[in-house]
Amino acid sequence: MSVKVIVGTQWGDEGKGKITDLLSRDMDMVVRYQGGNNAGHTVVIGKEVFKLHLIPSGIFFPKVVCVIGNGVVIDPGVLLEEIGSLKTKGLAVDNLRISSQAHVIMPYHKDLDGAQEKKAEAGRIGTTCRGIGPCYVDKYSRYGIRICDLYHEDVLKAKLAWNIEEKTFIINNYYKAQVSYDLNTMLNEYINYGRAIKQYVVEESSALVNDAIRQKKRILMEGAQGTMLDVDHGTYPFVTSSNPVSGGACVGGGVPPKAIDEVLGVVKAYVTRVGGGPFPTEEEGKVGEQLREIGGEYGATTGRPRRCGWFDGVVMKHAAKVNGLTGLAVTKLDVLDKFEKLKICVAYDQNGGQISDFPTDL
Ligand code: IMP
Repeated sequence: MSVKVIVGTQWGDEGKGKITDLLSRDMDMVVRYQGGNNAGHTVVIGKEVFKLHLIPSGIFFPKVVCVIGNGVVIDPGVLLEEIGSLKTKGLAVDNLRISSQAHVIMPYHKDLDGAQEKKAEAGRIGTTCRGIGPCYVDKYSRYGIRICDLYHEDVLKAKLAWNIEEKTFIINNYYKAQVSYDLNTMLNEYINYGRAIKQYVVEESSALVNDAIRQKKRILMEGAQGTMLDVDHGTYPFVTSSNPVSGGACVGGGVPPKAIDEVLGVVKAYVTRVGGGPFPTEEEGKVGEQLREIGGEYGATTGRPRRCGWFDGVVMKHAAKVNGLTGLAVTKLDVLDKFEKLKICVAYDQNGGQISDFPTDL
């Protein structure tokens, strides 16, 4: 066995962090392949509580090389805070590597995310407002700023000037917010971020991963969020802006598809969702409240209460299919101990009949 991918099979928060942490101790490398600091999990070691958003949980094992891959979007301020908090608690963090091809979340991405959510007439997505979507939009529009740009002041300045002009216009004129950005202040801030993370940056993280594959090292590819939040295979448009599914590991980590041996799905024994969008088995009343309180279902990143409901077999079937799951880790079964009766969804009612495949048109 060489490459194992770990994916969430529902709407995120299935407990991937815990499983990644368990598996990491036997790995040589852990690679995060998509998302950004919209994700979050808490790791408790002895009396210390660690909150991670960007850094793979393998960081607690100094022998494990932890890679933030090209498919991740990075808010350098948040990353530095995370590195700082790990160091304060005695971790060396020498085993961290950051792809120079990863895209950088800028202040205007966060402002744009907030402004879009505020307006959102078509239906609020309920994003984490961390600038994730607008950063990926810039990546695919080819206006994005990558980690490597932080080391070329002239290039960065030119890209920033253009982006600041465009984003200020959109945010102030279309979204009627009031923002202003000073080019030189932002330039200096991000050049300084670049300096502060330079020791961790590798030019081509996929080369690192592929070298490890050739050497038959044990590699864990860590997806954030979950299948139903995938921009292609989830409940679009109520999704995140990247591909948490197993195929995302190939793109966001530079792993050849044939190198993947195992795909482990993590599934919670019931279902939760944060933010807007369809949730067929949602329990809005007492049962939902009970699941939330017993399960401690509050967001690790935003603290928002999670919507809760019964286990959904239709979602599970969809996730097994699009990820090609070879194994399953079930979490939080004990939360169900308090319930006399459990419900499990096996199909949806639709137009007088029943369907057991997740519908693509919401
Ligand atoms: P964004 O990723 O911040 O753009 O948010 C898009 C949607 O994905 C929103 O409904 C968020 O609540 C949801 N989301 C993003 N990251 C996570 C996560 O780590 N767990 C659960 N939901 C998430």
